[in-house]
Amino acid sequence: MIIEPLAGALGAEVRGVNLRSVRDWAEIDRAFLKYSVLAFRDQQIEPQDLMQIGAHFGAPCHYPFVTGLEGFPFIFEVVKEEQETFNFGGNWHSDTTYLQQPPLATLLYALETPAQGGDTLFSSSYAAYDALSEGMRALVDPLVGVNSSSLKVTGGRRKMHSTIGSMKVQGMDQADRYEAEHPVVRTHPETGRKALFVGHPETCTNFENMTVAESRPLLDYLYAHSVQPDAIYRHMWKLGDVLMWDNRCTMHYAVHDYGMQTRNMNRVTVKGTKPV
Ligand code: SIN
Repeated sequence: MIIEPLAGALGAEVRGVNLRSVRDWAEIDRAFLKYSVLAFRDQQIEPQDLMQIGAHFGAPCHYPFVTGLEGFPFIFEVVKEEQETFNFGGNWHSDTTYLQQPPLATLLYALETPAQGGDTLFSSSYAAYDALSEGMRALVDPLVGVNSSSLKVTGGRRKMHSTIGSMKVQGMDQADRYEAEHPVVRTHPETGRKALFVGHPETCTNFENMTVAESRPLLDYLYAHSVQPDAIYRHMWKLGDVLMWDNRCTMHYAVHDYGMQTRNMNRVTVKGTKPV
């Protein structure tokens, strides 16, 4: 197994591994905690394999408001069809931070990629926290973010045509809306490192005990600060890539620069714990 860093702040490629038949995960686990995003090229993954790989990290969780694949309710397709202008995940975020226990990890497998473009960007929330001044850390350390699922999501072939906040998906959780309060600075439960945890500019509405108007300027600053080019890895997808990322210390952004082309990924999300 060869593990090669892909950027300064985060991201590594793992070579010489067939994810369908890993017996000893120790080195991959260490790399996952060290690099936060791992890329595996040339994999041949069926939905049951993706479930099995995800299970190494923990129990799968449903993506709220979305129906999974037939027979695999925890896997959903992240699809942009040719004619669609919406690209799921096309803004900087950490996944579903409006849940009480936001996901630990997300795994994405490339089934169809555009001829060019459709990259995913990742930023390190450790680097974002580390780069704050002492004064700013003192200000944000005690803050709690209020997160809500009122964001609207549309687009995607199978199941991303849903509208978050109003649609109920049969057989899935039936909540209209999710709300959760999380520390703006969280401590990673395994590495012990501090990470800025602001989630998503639209779903993190304000700080606890502060109005939206009072919170917005600082939130906007923290978002801009979290995604500086110096702390980013850009993944250029190829068919057969599997990416796994740590939602506890990263944000990501699915770039939509591929016009009328199709992009199709299978995705599974792994349950996390309440951030502290
Ligand atoms: C997402 O999970 O936000 C989408 C990532 C991607 O499709 O690149």
